[in-house]
Amino acid sequence: MASVPSLASTVQQRLAEALSAALPEAGSADPLLRRSDRADFQANGILALAKKAKGNPRELATLVVAAIPANDVLKEIEVSGPGFLNITVTDRAIVDTLAARAADDRLGVPYNPDAGTTVIDYAQPNVAKEMHVGHLRSAVIGAAMVEILEFTGEKVIRRHHIGDWGTQFGMLIQYLIEHPHELDHKEGEEVSGEEAMSSLNRLYKASRALFDSDEEFKARSRDRVVALQSGDKETLALWQRFVDESKIYFYSVFDQLDMEIRDPDVVGESAYNAMLDETCRLLEESGVAVISDGALCVFFDDIKGPDGNPTPLIVRKSNGGYGYAATDLSAVRDRVGNLGADTLLYVVDARQSLHFKMVWETARRAGWLNDKVKAVQLAFGTVLGADGKPFKTREGETVRLVDLLQQAVERATAVVRDKDEERGQLTEAEIVEHGRQVGIGAIKYADLSTSAVRDYKFDLEQMVSLHGDTSVYLQYAYVRIRSIMRNAGDAKPAAHPELELAPAERALGLHLDRFAETVAEVAESYEPHKLAAYLYQLASHLTKFYDQCQVLSASNPPEVVENRLFLIDLTARTLHQGMALLGIRTPERL
Ligand code: ARG
Repeated sequence: MASVPSLASTVQQRLAEALSAALPEAGSADPLLRRSDRADFQANGILALAKKAKGNPRELATLVVAAIPANDVLKEIEVSGPGFLNITVTDRAIVDTLAARAADDRLGVPYNPDAGTTVIDYAQPNVAKEMHVGHLRSAVIGAAMVEILEFTGEKVIRRHHIGDWGTQFGMLIQYLIEHPHELDHKEGEEVSGEEAMSSLNRLYKASRALFDSDEEFKARSRDRVVALQSGDKETLALWQRFVDESKIYFYSVFDQLDMEIRDPDVVGESAYNAMLDETCRLLEESGVAVISDGALCVFFDDIKGPDGNPTPLIVRKSNGGYGYAATDLSAVRDRVGNLGADTLLYVVDARQSLHFKMVWETARRAGWLNDKVKAVQLAFGTVLGADGKPFKTREGETVRLVDLLQQAVERATAVVRDKDEERGQLTEAEIVEHGRQVGIGAIKYADLSTSAVRDYKFDLEQMVSLHGDTSVYLQYAYVRIRSIMRNAGDAKPAAHPELELAPAERALGLHLDRFAETVAEVAESYEPHKLAAYLYQLASHLTKFYDQCQVLSASNPPEVVENRLFLIDLTARTLHQGMALLGIRTPERL
């Protein structure tokens, strides 16, 4: 597929040509084109170039303008300030470019089949534990990054690094041995995610209580850990039951989140067990890790604890047990060595940043990471309650994810029902389905619309508000266009480059032109909130457009109707595509 150049890149190209005509010694210098409020674009590059050539910037700017041949893209170029160019493009150029974009299924977003391979680590809950809002963030942000990266051509390998290993399994398994029917399912009965979690919870609490009160049980649990680690068949089979039961729960949550998680991509901590010994041996042999107080440790000059002593990365504990770090180091080896990753992307809580810093530095020293491989943490902040404190229930317990999702869907369904009250267009089934799409969309959008590293307040009321920067606002923008399309009768969208555009049409058109570059930027910087911001601005431009331009007015000449239908249709497709990249549905009616 030939890629569709944006208007910005066309203008950039024209200016670069004029620049090298006016100042041949500058070669292929960058005119530094930016979007601007004063005109459509602004070129800032001339100043520095003139200085370098020891010339007068305003003079050079004037020369550049004179070097631009007659054309139908640039309408007006004004030299301003010390040597900036303010550029206004023709209405024709806007509509022509958008028409090319509209003719492309991908809306002009380039696809690079030779892009690299990213292994993305996201949606990593822990076995036998309830999922919390942190797991939600990782899942939502990670899933959006998967879509965005794949859309640009990147090969993406998903890894759900679930917490499925550790000493707590000794106690759980031992308890199950002593209470063998606790995880049994009734013949032929399907267990819901909720039921699975509630039996796991019950088992967790009961075994914990026993572990804390009964020394003999504690001892048996410890022996069980040893049996598990040495690969005892019976113990492993019981461990597997916890994993399977947890997966019923995880999948049900991901399903509610309208998110596809595939079983082969669930490669938890346990998957690296067979590598741990070797990982340690290699580190020790190469001297990257040393034994300190019986533990295998890696030290860093710049990482110290509050007491001023160096804080090491502990790869193997003094009792011989492997921890989180050994697993993550082995995962790096696997992902780079076996999966061929050139980017490792971790969508993990910012509070684990130090851990990753140490793991990557260790991997670099060991040669498992090199300059050709990029390791990045897409770190996210803490979810806060309305009171600005870490999100807890009134009783001080962690908020259950499923309760949150349910509340969001309930609120959203009420909003949808309310809005439909006077029109009565929707059936009950539609209200329920759309309520889900709006509620889940609201949760995702709230997560995706603020910069990930920032903590954010979880405020359901605000999330499902019809006004402001919410997914519902975007969904309504889409619905409104679809409704106009249905009411358009015989009028079909068609681009009319010969027409003069109203200011609101131009603004909308110029913003549409930015879609491809926004997607590229987001894929590059791992900042999905910039796509959310783009879509919100798009919807805002659309609102202004409606205020100022009637689409299906009888007094409009037919070509104006067609051109406006064309503009809003492309807007709808852009909204739809952009929201899909964020994992948010766009219902046809609301
Ligand atoms: N399971 C961990 C948690 O709940 C997140 C895992 C992050 N990924 C990794 N490779 N360490 O905090």
